[in-house]
Amino acid sequence: MKTSHITVLLNEAIEYLKVEKNCWYVDTTFGGGGHTEQILKRGGKVIAFDFDQNAIKAGEERFKNEIESNQLVLVNKNFTELEETLNSLKKEHSIDEISGILFDFGTSTDQLMNTDRGFSFLGEGELDMRMDQTLGVKAKDLLTLLSEKQLMEIFFQHGGESEAKKIAKAIVSNRKNGVYIKTNKDLAQLVESVKKSRNKTHPATKVFQALRIVVNDELNNIETSLPQAFNSLKKGGRLITISFHEGEDRIAKTTFKTWQEENLATLITKKPVVPTDEAIKENPRCRSAKMRIIEKT
Ligand SMILES: C[S@@+](CC[C@H](N)C(=O)[O-])C[C@H]1O[C@@H](n2cnc3c(N)ncnc32)[C@H](O)[C@@H]1O
Repeated sequence: MKTSHITVLLNEAIEYLKVEKNCWYVDTTFGGGGHTEQILKRGGKVIAFDFDQNAIKAGEERFKNEIESNQLVLVNKNFTELEETLNSLKKEHSIDEISGILFDFGTSTDQLMNTDRGFSFLGEGELDMRMDQTLGVKAKDLLTLLSEKQLMEIFFQHGGESEAKKIAKAIVSNRKNGVYIKTNKDLAQLVESVKKSRNKTHPATKVFQALRIVVNDELNNIETSLPQAFNSLKKGGRLITISFHEGEDRIAKTTFKTWQEENLATLITKKPVVPTDEAIKENPRCRSAKMRIIEKT
């Protein structure tokens, strides 16, 4: 299956990883396999994680030869299980050390474009939003079960939605009349009808982002896994994060700063690396991307 995902900061990430032949790298967010493919092309070997079953299945077809020749190991797990999984894979595949680890947070275009999964306001499908289909709670469950205050906090804290209160109120008052949000279209229409402010993006963009972050526990996952990545990395190895919103970037920024202050690691760039104007023109979705790089000392 072909991926529709355009890899963000591809050349930049590969350069900063300093890929060397026959060394092992970890791509914690395999997605459409764009970063993995380039590491393999440069002669590196890859252990790649994704908790989305579809992403791993597509990767198994696309990289059949590389898997057979032990250049690529695909793991269908949450990257919160990074350290333990790497320890057992190292034994199984006789891997000495990990030379670099990459996180490219968030969703892939393949996930966003699949209207059955409810990640965006395109088409009509169940408001699901689970990247890992074994997770218990869908976005529509949150909208059915949480209080007005809880919904407001989610929209505000994780989406920065200025009209969070109004939107949460409308959802709960509809519920009282027996009207429940079940699809992405239901939610997009409700937000559109409630919101006053208008800009270039769809009015429901921030609400969709906020729900996705909570359904997939994205910020806790990042917090839990960065120290595991650091522990798993060899001395001199690099850890790279690519984030797409403030919440993700803040965790990487503060964690890296602490390691630098404690002389555990060196920041490779003072400011985050961002996409070029040309890249943003080609792929407007990458406009908010920020890449941070640290090297273990
Ligand atoms: C932005 S995409 C990665 C795109 C990839 N770098 C490429 O070039 O094709 C993010 C991917 O990470 C996966 N992901 C997000 N959180 C994860 C987690 N906690 N554990 C494992 N995979 C995760 C998503 O399912 C998605 O496929």
